[in-house]
Amino acid sequence: MEEKFKKLDELRKKALLGGGEKKIKSQHDKGKLTARERIRLLVDEGSFDEIDMFVKHRSSDFGLEKQKIMGDGVITGFARIEGRPVAVFSQDFTVFGGSLSEAHAEKICKIMDMAEKVGVPVIGLNDSGGARIQEGVVSLGGYADIFLRNTLVSGVIPQISAILGPCAGGAVYSPAITDFVFMVKNTSHMFVTGPNVVKTVTHEDVTFEDLGGAETHSSKSGVAHFAYESEIELFEHLRKLMSYLPLNWKDTPPERNFDFNQDLTVNALNSIVPDSPNKPYDMHEVIKLLVDDSEFLEVHANYAQNILVGFARVGGVAVGIVANQPAVLAGVLDINSSNKGARFIRFCDAFNIPLLVLEDVPGFLPGTDQEWNGIIRHGSKLLFAFCEATVPKVTIITRKAYGGAYDVMNSKHIRGDFNFAWPSAEIAVMGPKGAVEIIFKKEIGESDDPQKKLDEKLSEYIEKFANPYIAAERGYVDDVIKPSESRKKIINAFQLLKTKVDKNPRKKHCNIPL
Ligand code: HXC
Repeated sequence: MEEKFKKLDELRKKALLGGGEKKIKSQHDKGKLTARERIRLLVDEGSFDEIDMFVKHRSSDFGLEKQKIMGDGVITGFARIEGRPVAVFSQDFTVFGGSLSEAHAEKICKIMDMAEKVGVPVIGLNDSGGARIQEGVVSLGGYADIFLRNTLVSGVIPQISAILGPCAGGAVYSPAITDFVFMVKNTSHMFVTGPNVVKTVTHEDVTFEDLGGAETHSSKSGVAHFAYESEIELFEHLRKLMSYLPLNWKDTPPERNFDFNQDLTVNALNSIVPDSPNKPYDMHEVIKLLVDDSEFLEVHANYAQNILVGFARVGGVAVGIVANQPAVLAGVLDINSSNKGARFIRFCDAFNIPLLVLEDVPGFLPGTDQEWNGIIRHGSKLLFAFCEATVPKVTIITRKAYGGAYDVMNSKHIRGDFNFAWPSAEIAVMGPKGAVEIIFKKEIGESDDPQKKLDEKLSEYIEKFANPYIAAERGYVDDVIKPSESRKKIINAFQLLKTKVDKNPRKKHCNIPL
């Protein structure tokens, strides 16, 4: 028996080395960690159970039969993060550049199938030269097997992708289908075609980083939700993200203990909204004061910054926050912010994460650029996402709630459960100036002193409409509250809504305007 144990130990030792010391050094020299080091940083210490360590490829073309490395370029298994189970795969660049063979794909599919069966999230650590060129179409088939699983388990279990090296060609579509994409600055890249092909086809000179680096995808394209300076920082935040997520669509997010006997008044909230309705303020400040321990894990922090989305806790309950940001483009809704908001809302709704909406929105952005690029189609995604969401939904209108944007931002009419307004709220069809210029056009134009008339009508309109009380009279807002009372109100609301049951009509699937 001793001999047999020894053989197993030797095989394991060999497998742990992947492509060997030289390749590991080269990986470190590039500023990257190895596949196993990454798993160690991601999961609870000692919790990783690897499977398929001995799997090898079955290819014999181009001399591959002489290069069989255990694991075949991907490490797969199950582990725990903060004590909760996850499935993990981590591509090993030291073995054929982490390229995806038939066997490599089978290993990934195997843990995905188990993750679906038991209902646990899948985290993929991607670092790969793409399809294993020597295996040809078999490798493409392997990718397709993964894409299909990514799609079928979407909304069943959370799927998270970390891009930690190259990710090119069709391979980008697996991470793109998953729920969240993490990238590292300078060492991770995603593109459909690399700089050389770009140069040949469009004659553009572009670097790897500019074309598909973390900065590009987290600020310009929106493909990446999170971008960090180092892998260590990335894994810290990935673990944090997991703490807000349930294991699967039937589960609820983990709740923290909370002392309800404390004073929940937050006086600092009373002085955030400026007296002048045209002055910006930073909605981050409101969020920090409203949520537990001022902790807000912002998603897409550098993309479409006129809307803020992210995770926090109120009274121990995990919530997804969707907030207009008056400090950027006055918080107006445009194409990118609508897409960003809609995708986040749908994720939260799929995984039973209640929504807290903070509203200060002057409307949708006007202009040919927006209209010609389909603000109607894209804006409707945000509306659609709020309408179909059945999770607890609470809104606070801090200032402007004008036009269609009032309806869209989780109004009572589209099943918002509780809508509260601060006394600074202005809820109407449009802002005072635009409204007065339309409805009193003739009167102002025919007046001896048009400016005086305009000012007069403006004061009349502001007095009548730029406040929350008409909406409150109708019950369109449930209460007008002082900002300092907001934290208590939302904590109570989310506690009450824990037992909320709501559902949508039966159907095959909806047809969100894509
Ligand atoms: C087989 C590969 C490989 C691949 C890299 N290697 N990519 N082997 N298939 N796709 C091997 C290299 O031969 C090398 O082996 C080792 O991995 C490390 O690669 P290097 O080139 O030395 O590393 P580096 O300089 O860091 O460059 C990394 C790279 C480059 C940018 C990823 O290797 C590269 O451009 N590879 C090809 C990428 C590509 O075009 N893939 C197909 C994409 S299309 P040795 O033994 O020399 O160390 C695709 C389709 C997916 O994937 C379709 C889904 C539908």
